[in-house]
Amino acid sequence: MNEANKRTTPAGALVIFGATGDLAHKMIFPALYAMVKHGNLNVPVVGVASSKYNMLQLHQRVTDSIKQNNKIIDQTALDHLLSLLQYVGGDYRDPGTFKSLKQTLGNIKHPAHYLAIPPGLFATVISGLGAAGLAEEARVIVEKPFGRDLASARELNRIALSTFPEDSIFRIDHYLGKEAIMNILYFRFANSFLEPIWNRNYIASVQITLSENFGVKNRGAFYESAGCLRDVIQNHLFQIVALLAMEPPAYQGFGAVHMEKAKIFQAMRALNPSDIVRGQYIGYRNENGVSLNSDVETFCALRLFIDSWRWEGVPWFLRSGKFLAETAAEILVQLKNPPQRLFDDSTPVNGRANYLRFRLSPNAALALAARVKRAGKEFIGDQRELFMQDEQPEEEAPYERLLGDAMCGDGALFTREDAVEAAWAVVDPVLEIHDQAYLYKPGSWGPCQSEALVIDHGGWHNPNLGKTKK
Ligand code: BG6
Repeated sequence: MNEANKRTTPAGALVIFGATGDLAHKMIFPALYAMVKHGNLNVPVVGVASSKYNMLQLHQRVTDSIKQNNKIIDQTALDHLLSLLQYVGGDYRDPGTFKSLKQTLGNIKHPAHYLAIPPGLFATVISGLGAAGLAEEARVIVEKPFGRDLASARELNRIALSTFPEDSIFRIDHYLGKEAIMNILYFRFANSFLEPIWNRNYIASVQITLSENFGVKNRGAFYESAGCLRDVIQNHLFQIVALLAMEPPAYQGFGAVHMEKAKIFQAMRALNPSDIVRGQYIGYRNENGVSLNSDVETFCALRLFIDSWRWEGVPWFLRSGKFLAETAAEILVQLKNPPQRLFDDSTPVNGRANYLRFRLSPNAALALAARVKRAGKEFIGDQRELFMQDEQPEEEAPYERLLGDAMCGDGALFTREDAVEAAWAVVDPVLEIHDQAYLYKPGSWGPCQSEALVIDHGGWHNPNLGKTKK
């Protein structure tokens, strides 16, 4: 079979390592259930875990996951999902576990192995798969965080590539499976009016905020090993930056998109400690699994530069945090002021200059803000938003989309080795060397020190959900 055929052959089974864990319960089983409902899953699903489960317990666990995630249950779909399940219990360090898995898979070709396990176990499982001959013509789906710094990401890539070719490795960043994020790519390159202004001549700065009005919940121990910069900025927010900043792909096809995105990560200037402000919400140290003197950041704001012809000198401000005032994700592309002030109310005296605003969540929306004159003798006006919103009520959830794509061998919405490493290289210098995290009040917009980063750029734009969904 040639490479092209191999890439598009649907997986004959889905193997989930970590089937009894949190990720499987929260994300994977609900996605599989949705796939069954939409007629997109009809192959065996083999759960692998070290827990001593029997099939009844696994069925209960899956049913519980579906019930927690869906108000109304489609019993036929749930029964069908349960009928696809099989289970292999055993220690990942024991070759016997992989032998049992091989027996369970029998003659099935092209299994997709999903590693829903802590990154510390990736190497063990990948070599177990290789040694048992389970990696041939197979795919591996790897969850984020892909590494915890540049060195560990390189090591992980080395291990994965020693067993699987790059086009059989699917590194998940669930942001890439979101409609609103795919729309960034579409909006940029399906419209002609944008390109002339989409550069340092017209854009003053770009801000991206991903805020959540809840804490680390029961993930304290994970958060202690990650922190906000690793958890969402190096991956989710950087992916958004790449889509906003990339050059037009040279041809139609995701290979070209991957190439242009990787160039953006390579052109990002490595951060230095004065580019970032870290914060920690008051009460974080009392969370389960968190050290009493933890300095791990639950908030991070940073200033980034892309050293390219198009973006020279344009600051990109990124910010994310737990226990902030709203749960929302929004991009603000701030345009420059007109060259001269002809009217008394002109910016910057009266608010922001024109901007483009992309709301990514909780609802998808896009607004272009421009000034219009108020009726009357005086030449004064207001900034108004020309507002577009397009939401599909029955949208595929990111995990459903990404799992389906990985099982079909479509790597368009996954991250590539070079891009992941280049993104780590940007944050690497500040992972260990940084100022202490400032405490902030839950429900605020993070520590006031983060304002200093954007003081010359009109301050932070706080997503305001208000009464409407705008
Ligand atoms: C995950 C992070 O990758 O993304 C979480 O681990 C974060 O901490 C989540 O809450 C945000 O994703 P979403 O889709 O809810 O915006």
